[in-house]
Amino acid sequence: MEFPFNVNAIFQTRISIIKRDLLPQGFSGDARAAWKCASQVSDIIDVMGLASARAQGLQKAITTGDRLRSYDHTLYLLVNPEGNGGKGVVVGLLKMGRKKLFVFDVNGQHHEMEPLCVLDFYIHESMQRMGCGKLLYEFMLQEEHIGPEQLAIDRPSEKFLAFLHKHYNLSKIIPQANNYVIFEEFFSNHADVP
Ligand code: ACO
Repeated sequence: MEFPFNVNAIFQTRISIIKRDLLPQGFSGDARAAWKCASQVSDIIDVMGLASARAQGLQKAITTGDRLRSYDHTLYLLVNPEGNGGKGVVVGLLKMGRKKLFVFDVNGQHHEMEPLCVLDFYIHESMQRMGCGKLLYEFMLQEEHIGPEQLAIDRPSEKFLAFLHKHYNLSKIIPQANNYVIFEEFFSNHADVP
């Protein structure tokens, strides 16, 4: 996705971590620069969040700059610095956060937990099926020190389910009473479940 400003002036690395302050982790600059940066990052998140919603057939965006300011979520943003004549393009986003959930195990027993959840995941249409999603997901797993089987996923699309099957061999879903999907392997590696 192209923007009417220099994306490379905002993001110093191919993948950036963004939290409530809307400043890429490692940002340095005075208050004025921070304000300008956060406002451009907010615009980027709004546009990418809307594209993600459209790709998932949702009525409205679940990821916006305003929402990121309001919740304790982490956004991973992937850019291609070579795009748009060297100004850089934004390729995709991955939003993570903890949610209090009642999670059913394979025996139908429920557990109150607050697992890390995949809340939004999107790679621009022009870059899908080229390994960008895997790159972003792997980066997140390393940052969060977590295995793919330990995550709960908010309403995964068919594409995302295919992605998880292909890259992480996750396919055995345990039915839940909410919109979240977890796999059988979820319980093998969660220390807080008896
Ligand atoms: N149809 C079926 N499977 C697909 C498709 C597709 N159109 N696109 C990606 N995949 C799966 C396949 O397993 C594919 O492997 P294959 O090409 O050998 O069949 C694999 O993903 C490719 O892996 P990557 O290239 O690393 O993934 P990609 O960069 O395409 O990112 C993603 C995956 C994020 C799901 C992307 O396809 C996308 O943005 N889709 C539209 C939005 C979406 O569905 N997001 C998830 C919503 S659910 C949530 O966010 C919690």
